[in-house]
Amino acid sequence: MIIAPSVLTADLSSLGSACKEAVEAGLDWLHLDIMDGNFVPNLTFGPPVIKRLREHLGSGPIFDAHLMIENAEESYMQYIEAGCNHLTVHVEAVKHLHRLVHAIRDAGAGAGVVLNPATPIDSIRDILPDLDLVLIMSVNPGFGGQSFIPTVESKIRTLRSWIDEQVSNGGRPVQIQVDGGVKAHNIAMIQEWGATNCVVGSGLFNSNGSVKENLQIILNALG
Ligand code: DX5
Ligand code: ZN
Repeated sequence: MIIAPSVLTADLSSLGSACKEAVEAGLDWLHLDIMDGNFVPNLTFGPPVIKRLREHLGSGPIFDAHLMIENAEESYMQYIEAGCNHLTVHVEAVKHLHRLVHAIRDAGAGAGVVLNPATPIDSIRDILPDLDLVLIMSVNPGFGGQSFIPTVESKIRTLRSWIDEQVSNGGRPVQIQVDGGVKAHNIAMIQEWGATNCVVGSGLFNSNGSVKENLQIILNALG
């Protein structure tokens, strides 16, 4: 299971230090929540900040950009040039998903699609063979610290069976990432459903302890 820290709930006034704390705790898959204030009612940061983060952290960590933005089809290259390794785009915000997924992969980055809680899993059935990752939102996007939406279980289990079938037929393995409200009390259950990558924001960045201490609690829950 990959634990992907979302720095959205960290002290954003020192974003570089928050990311560095996560990397030093052994977390090298960083989930960057990019919000434009249009697709979601919150606004975070974009390519200029990502570029500085990459300079600050070096080439090691994986930057996984969760693009909660309206103009991914126009701006995706800026995120790759800023240093992102993976781009995940919302099916609800993209007009030509097949074209964008292939453009991202052709540019050398991993391509993911993300589904909001109400978006049916069938919407990505035909693009699944072309993907590196599917992100299942278990909260409505825009904010950290929200409660997990348990009805995503059936989407995750269905996706798990599709990917297992695809791999058994010689197709590409695709990561199942779950994002929103993931904590020590539910992560083992989410793994049992078939997830391979869990985004954790407030479960790692909070006033109860350091990222390292909070991570240990989560790892203990995974057994
Ligand atoms: C919400 C973001 C999530 C969120 C996760 O729009 O996509 O990545 O920051 O934070 P927690 O783990 O606190 O729900
Ligand atoms: Zn996210």
